Amino acid sequence: MVTTPIYYVNDKPHIGHVYTSTVADIYARYKRLQNMDVFFLTGTDEHGLKVEQSAEKRQIPAQALADENSLVFQEVMKSNEISFDDFIRTTDERHTTQVQAFVEKLLKSGDVYLGKFEGWYDEGQEEYYTETKAKECNYESPISGKPMVRMEEENYYFKLSKYESKVKELLETNDSFLTPKERKNELLQRVNDGLNDVPISRTNFTWGIPMPGDEQHVIYVWIDALMNYVTAIGMAQDGEEKQKYWPASIHVMAKEISWFHAVIWPAVLMALDLPLPSRVHAHGFWIREGRKMSKSLGNFVDLTVLNKFSNHYGLDGFRYYLATEGPIGAQDANFASSRVQEVYGTDLVNTFGNSTSRTTAMCVKYFDGILPEKSDDNSKIFEGYDWKSICEKEGAEAVCAYENLELNKATQAAMRIIAKVDLFITETEPFRMAKDPNERENLGAVLYQCLEALRISACILEPILPNKVKEMHAGLPLYANESDSMEKRLIWGGIKPGTTVSKLALFPRLDPLDENGEIMKEAQAPAASKKPAKKSKTKVKKVYSPETQAKIDAQGALIRSMKESGKTNDDAEVAEAVKILKELKASE
Ligand code: MSP
Repeated sequence: MVTTPIYYVNDKPHIGHVYTSTVADIYARYKRLQNMDVFFLTGTDEHGLKVEQSAEKRQIPAQALADENSLVFQEVMKSNEISFDDFIRTTDERHTTQVQAFVEKLLKSGDVYLGKFEGWYDEGQEEYYTETKAKECNYESPISGKPMVRMEEENYYFKLSKYESKVKELLETNDSFLTPKERKNELLQRVNDGLNDVPISRTNFTWGIPMPGDEQHVIYVWIDALMNYVTAIGMAQDGEEKQKYWPASIHVMAKEISWFHAVIWPAVLMALDLPLPSRVHAHGFWIREGRKMSKSLGNFVDLTVLNKFSNHYGLDGFRYYLATEGPIGAQDANFASSRVQEVYGTDLVNTFGNSTSRTTAMCVKYFDGILPEKSDDNSKIFEGYDWKSICEKEGAEAVCAYENLELNKATQAAMRIIAKVDLFITETEPFRMAKDPNERENLGAVLYQCLEALRISACILEPILPNKVKEMHAGLPLYANESDSMEKRLIWGGIKPGTTVSKLALFPRLDPLDENGEIMKEAQAPAASKKPAKKSKTKVKKVYSPETQAKIDAQGALIRSMKESGKTNDDAEVAEAVKILKELKASE
């Protein structure tokens, strides 16, 4: 079971929501490719004071507001092709009845009791703070900056204190429970201050699930919300087949809700005698121009902007940016349109797209698009290019990276293979071989090895670029059966001689967008992201013969890869490569 947090219906969808879902989606797709029976859950969190107030302001029932906003989230998930298996709403009857059943169980066991409480309350977060923590924050909400208020309430409490040592032990001894590892110390510090019992009911609003046996109280939104993970799969219902998905393999979210997921939630599960999720991953935040995105600053990368980016770069193109530049680990990430353009241009257009189009074009040109007999001859290894080992190593690294949710590392493994394919073409010169009838077998082998390496790269990238990879599969078969596991797809030798290949053009060159998602006019575009052909409008682009053009492309790719590895024009190797490129261009 893979989950996203359930999205709060009083908020408007933004990049944070789309990102959390995309990360979970990539993981879910990867796990399905491992032939795992995945249940991917998302949904909306619909109760609480703020929803009640927003509905009052609009003079509509809270349920109507929740219906409307939940639909917006459902549409966002669908339009972003988030492959969820279930969308739970906390107003669903299946949820409310089971929450009541769970709370009743806790009342019976004494883990929930009626008591009086006085403390510091963050109204925005609907959360109490200990005296130490409140003092540390200067009695102001660390999230909204607004002053905390002193509150006294008679409420139902959850006996969190009873689970203090067990939660502490969990965080201290199980390194894989909470990732990235930086989060552990933040939480442990707070746990070490001591865990007080937490109120789990409210009387100051009514828009919530009634407390069983005491309808004056509604169940506090966090307890209600956290329980979605188990109500969706019927953990409080008899004979529900979906119970097999518990415990969850991973809960994905951002860091500000790690306390609820890695401290409160395990304690609640311990009290309910249910197993704990294997992992809680709390990624960083998307920020904008170095500042937190917030309602007061009005600087969210909102749905309108997000849609402009994904329409322009394609859903996969934009997902690739989110996956490679997003705040997957402890650090926050800055959203920058220039980086979307750079990442798209460098990795997808110039590397993946260009290499795929060159190699498939050569196959069409030299072999009428049919991979020749014996081109898969394993004994033909060109010096420095033992492709089977190269791909095995990179494939294993990518799998390990997906497992750890190191999405950027997974893409890098694929990009390293592709950059090597470009170098291989430069060195083996298939365009030269094509002129020599005695080199037909070598030519076939070179092309086979390029295509096979590209096939494996595409299989690595599939969870991130599902549509593009499907498109590629139509021109270059990537697997024999849809049901083949990723492990099988990554084995060298998947393509067989006799396979028909057609020319592929996967990623078009695109104009850059500005921060609001508008297409930039030429004069505004940063030099690095301008299309080369547009650099000078007065010059007519020189047309070379296909052979020379291929050599120029390969030489360009070689120079790019040298620079990517840190070399500059001052390095003799780069200077030499640039000289060759100039000579090639001057040769016709
Ligand atoms: N409803 C609660 C979650 C309950 S789960 C039992 C909630 N909802 S939320 O809509 O406010 O946030 C949903 C997700 O978006 C959370 O993972 C949150 O951490 C994430 N993000 C919100 N803003 C974000 C960024 N700026 N950047 C990245 N993710 C962020 O919390």
